[in-house]
Amino acid sequence: MHRRKKILSTVIIALVSLIISCGQQADQNEILIGEYSSLTGTTATYGLSTHRGLMMAVDETNNAGGILGKKIKLLTEDTQSKPEEAATAVTKLISRDRVVGVIGEVSSSRSLAAAPICQANKIPMITNASTNPEVTKKGDYIFRVCFIDPFQGEIMAKFTFNSLGLKRAAILKDIKNDYSIGLAQFFEESFKSLGGEIVATQAYSEGDADFKAQLTALKAANPEAVIVPGYYTEAALIVKQARELNMNMPFVGGDGWDSGKLIEIGGESMNNSYFSTAFSSDDPDPVVQNFAQKYHQLYGEKPDALAALGYDAGLIMFDAIKRAGVTESSKLRDAIAATKNFRGVTGLITIDQHRNALKPIVILAVENGKLVYKETVQP
Ligand code: PHE
Repeated sequence: MHRRKKILSTVIIALVSLIISCGQQADQNEILIGEYSSLTGTTATYGLSTHRGLMMAVDETNNAGGILGKKIKLLTEDTQSKPEEAATAVTKLISRDRVVGVIGEVSSSRSLAAAPICQANKIPMITNASTNPEVTKKGDYIFRVCFIDPFQGEIMAKFTFNSLGLKRAAILKDIKNDYSIGLAQFFEESFKSLGGEIVATQAYSEGDADFKAQLTALKAANPEAVIVPGYYTEAALIVKQARELNMNMPFVGGDGWDSGKLIEIGGESMNNSYFSTAFSSDDPDPVVQNFAQKYHQLYGEKPDALAALGYDAGLIMFDAIKRAGVTESSKLRDAIAATKNFRGVTGLITIDQHRNALKPIVILAVENGKLVYKETVQP
């Protein structure tokens, strides 16, 4: 009996290792990097832009000879814009494909779902765009190359209060979205500390399409500005419906507004609105212009912030592998943590002791149906 059990368990172990090794697509000459991105669903432009920027970084690195004598191979999983799928995606990338590092996600809620899995497996993760402070608190293997929302909220509060000169603001936030809840809170704290007043707050959930009830309630409180810390699909519909209700005050958003779809959906209604972001393709800096031109050649459009952040996240991962000299996870982790003054297309990137990036913020306005650069604020 005892022996049979032993044989059985040996067979099971052999089978399991066979299954695991079938999943490994690495050959000796490749370094496998995983990407989990929203290529479909409510925020599909986030994933598509990130993937395009990241592929540019991969191709440029490989064309220049690769790293450690090997080529980078990027394996991409679609999160369908859903947190549950984000968790499944990184589990596949880590357990089945055995990637040495993970890049993604854009949305904080999705990064929060996936980060604990990367941390538990000790596989370094770099999010290109998740700005909620909780993301990198998930553990010492979790990094980001974007700014964080306490900073973004403060800058937008100052912009609304000082630059626009408005003292009474209302907030319309997405209560199913960690990023939106956090940014609303940080905006409110800063705006009040400047002497501003939050005259009303309303909520919606991602996927909603009719915001008239919330907007009517906000209008009754007579705000001078409405803050919408959400993603582009809902933000554009909100502003459009607000204009139909004769709410002609400035609307203010954050990086979640950054998508070509914003103006496509919102049209002329988007005029007299403002948002913060990580990148403007109109920045005259030659590094930015060179990137923007190459991107345009490849994809036939201007890069948005997510394309730029995807590109930078890739380059930082590859630079760290080069400096580590190996792909062993603890050494790679240490090398990412040691990133200093890395010249990305979204500015100089230094990873701080909390694994966050200190970065400038760009403020854009919508005027005559076009994005117009307003100002850059240093951290
Ligand atoms: N910062 C957003 C989040 O954390 C995601 C985002 C970043 C969206 C940049 C658009 C552009 O959820």
